[in-house]
Amino acid sequence: MTQDPGGLYSRADRQAAQAWAFDRIGEHYDAAFPHKEGQIAAGEWLLERLAPGSRVLDVGCGTGIPTARQLSDAGHKVTGVDISGEMLRLAHRDVPDAEFRHLDIADLDPTLGAFAAVVAFFSLLMLPRAEIPSALTKIHQVIEPEGYFLLSMVEADLDDTPIHFLGSPVRVTGYVRSELEKLVIEAGFEVIGLRHLSYAPASTELLPEVQLFLFCRRDGRR
Ligand SMILES: C[S@@+](CC[C@H](N)C(=O)[O-])C[C@H]1O[C@@H](n2cnc3c(N)ncnc32)[C@H](O)[C@@H]1O
Repeated sequence: MTQDPGGLYSRADRQAAQAWAFDRIGEHYDAAFPHKEGQIAAGEWLLERLAPGSRVLDVGCGTGIPTARQLSDAGHKVTGVDISGEMLRLAHRDVPDAEFRHLDIADLDPTLGAFAAVVAFFSLLMLPRAEIPSALTKIHQVIEPEGYFLLSMVEADLDDTPIHFLGSPVRVTGYVRSELEKLVIEAGFEVIGLRHLSYAPASTELLPEVQLFLFCRRDGRR
């Protein structure tokens, strides 16, 4: 890996390292997080509000389980994007009715078309804090006015911190809930609700965590 003059990894190196880690993690991810009740409940919240056949974007979709499958099975047109080829392979295999693309969150743009909703479950936490406001802005730009945005993160005061995750080195970022809410509002969203829950992963290698789920709507005026 090369380093930039400031001693940080370049963006491309960082993205390649994160993708490599998730290529290695592959199916172990779903085995380590088998009980995704909070995420499934968030998907149900969205399903109650979407018109039939809505376009939904799953940002950092991973294996597509449970969310892309939940939304696709309900008849919505799901597009999942991720930077890990292996995660996308699993998603194609297990959620055949959805469309998946190899795309970085940073490269989301309006040529993807407008979505009735975007979900980003535990994917923005893979970006450094410096890139999160622009990622939220890019997400905002692809949501229809008054469309929905569901975001989940692990609650922690961390910025681009190296950790070992299921045997692979990754870098993770988190916020306390008030800071996360502030960022989302600054990006042009109205926060309709916030849920938090304690989560104990199946793997003894991982510590219990507090998960935050933000239920947001694109502010129709911005
Ligand atoms: C912790 S997993 C969450 C997967 C899925 N959303 C879920 O809830 O099960 C994070 C996912 O984000 C992807 N990812 C990491 N950085 C990304 C980026 N810059 N752009 C798109 N996807 C990214 C990883 O490859 C991985 O599949």
